[in-house]
Amino acid sequence: MATFTLKVNGVSTEVDVDPDTPLLWVLRDHLDLRGTKFGCGIAQCGACTVHLDGAATRSCAVPVSVVGAKSVTTIEGLSAEGTHPVQQAWLEHDVPQCGYCQAGQIMNAAALLAQNPSPTDDEIEQGMRGNICRCGTYVRIRAAIRSAAGGSR
Ligand code: FES
Ligand code: FES
Repeated sequence: MATFTLKVNGVSTEVDVDPDTPLLWVLRDHLDLRGTKFGCGIAQCGACTVHLDGAATRSCAVPVSVVGAKSVTTIEGLSAEGTHPVQQAWLEHDVPQCGYCQAGQIMNAAALLAQNPSPTDDEIEQGMRGNICRCGTYVRIRAAIRSAAGGSR
């Protein structure tokens, strides 16, 4: 066990965990931030996507010991009241079905648009292809991202 100081959603917090503990477990089990989901556990599905210093990151594959001073943002911290443009576009397009993958989808989309505010359809496809949705909401996800980018097509 070791003590780590993490900055999560703007708040510094200490956790006592094994250094190999995935960030995902720390968020869910130690900090009670359950919006970030466990899907595959091997960096293949995107359900666990959070931001590390703004970059979309699979928290199941990041040991807590390598987070360091990087700022962690989870779906709970993306916006104060669900008003991030991506969240609003998700509502507009009624994207979720079962919802399980959706926090990861939104976090990945938000990071994509932060890096590239006007992505082409191909860039959206490339940027989102690693986030799996077993309910097949891909068409609505892509439409919502285009709306959030300002080009409601
Ligand atoms: S749970 Fe992390 S990528 Fe699937
Ligand atoms: S909405 Fe069900 S897995 Fe994506």
